[in-house]
Amino acid sequence: MGLQGINTAYWFERASSVLIGGVSSQFRYWGENDTIVIDHGEAGHLIDMDGNRYIDYQLGFGPIILGHGDEKVAAAVADAASSGASFAMTQRREIEAAEKVMEALGWADGMRFTNTGTEATMHAIRLARGFTGRDVVVKFEGQYHGVHDYVMFSTAEAPPDALGSRYSPVPLQSSSGIPDSIRTYIRTLPFNDLELAERMFQDEGNRIAAVIVEPMLGNAFGLMPEDGYLDGLRRLCDESGAVLIFDEVKTGFRIALGGANEYFGVTPDIGTYAKALGNGFPVAAIATRGELIEGWRKGGIAQAGTYSGNAVAAAAAAATIDQLSTGEPLARVEKVGQALMEGLDGILSERSVEGKLTGHPSMFSIYLGEGEPKEFRDASGHDNELYEDVCFRMIKKGVMPCPDALEPWFVCAAHTDEDVATSLQVFEESLTEALADR
Ligand SMILES: Cc1ncc(COP(=O)(O)O)c(C=O)c1O
Repeated sequence: MGLQGINTAYWFERASSVLIGGVSSQFRYWGENDTIVIDHGEAGHLIDMDGNRYIDYQLGFGPIILGHGDEKVAAAVADAASSGASFAMTQRREIEAAEKVMEALGWADGMRFTNTGTEATMHAIRLARGFTGRDVVVKFEGQYHGVHDYVMFSTAEAPPDALGSRYSPVPLQSSSGIPDSIRTYIRTLPFNDLELAERMFQDEGNRIAAVIVEPMLGNAFGLMPEDGYLDGLRRLCDESGAVLIFDEVKTGFRIALGGANEYFGVTPDIGTYAKALGNGFPVAAIATRGELIEGWRKGGIAQAGTYSGNAVAAAAAAATIDQLSTGEPLARVEKVGQALMEGLDGILSERSVEGKLTGHPSMFSIYLGEGEPKEFRDASGHDNELYEDVCFRMIKKGVMPCPDALEPWFVCAAHTDEDVATSLQVFEESLTEALADR
């Protein structure tokens, strides 16, 4: 397709001579001529090495909630950085940030910081296993919880038609390098089918340490849970003594300040948070409640991290939560997201394109297929070719959603009404062109 201008191509070549494949994370690689190199971000926009400006709906895969380069977060980070970032001790900013996280969440009895979502889910699973003395972990097809071994099964990269029968799903390994034995501890399920979850708990509920679930499918069209589904998982965990983990790395501090507990009214035993918590700075948190906190307070279940709770990350989290707590940024995000969803839906209808807007206004997707998608397996009914074609045309015109429809469009408080109008116009043009060229 060739998304690189002359300068971007030059910088990508430089990147490739030092960073393997030119990237620090595999999901950033879009091919030799399409991998974009960014110079900087401004509010809801990105500027590449050729000075091309894009309205950014990737927002770093979700963390940017206030806008790129938010002034208050930048000032707090600069202030913290000049006082030293890491100490071998608990520090003031970490405590202040933790108090704000706990208040925002409202349901937890204790928390610890980590640096990434991967670390957060890894520690959450170990805590659940250490607490229950059980090994089996249940996860859902199409959900991504980071790159550690225990969660790299049946992620959104798996071909939906290779997942076996929905009555006995095959946990499909998403990477080489994971020992075969790990699979024996992992069970996968299609999302939004409580009967299947009930069957699994009947069969081996006393072996299940934890159910880890994104409360909405942040890595598969932003699909929402059906009424009663999360409550059903809560009940199954309560009845069997398993730990319910909400992986809120994408939804936390985004769909609501208090995340899924506030939005869906279901309380997990452990919640993992990252992304919007720090508006782009590497900060993550694991919150928990009840007896589970003893697992860490009394020791015996390892949790550690040199940079966990460092001053810069803590300052970013505190400054982000301070702003989110006013209610204004998330109200703005919701308004912008709603306008985009309605506008995009209207354009699909006008063109008689079969499709549906899925998800929450702060993170939504366009499903190009018939009917109502409910779970990751429904991705097989989505017209990926058309979607990708439309997205690449949009990017060339300066509007950047992720070309993979499974990855939602993320909205931030700095997106303007003009951004919305431009984006809708560009989507309409791109869709018209793509349909004409089919
Ligand atoms: C739901 C969810 N959990 C965990 C992770 C892993 O987070 P990180 O990339 O910070 O390790 C991600 C990353 O996208 C995610 O979407």
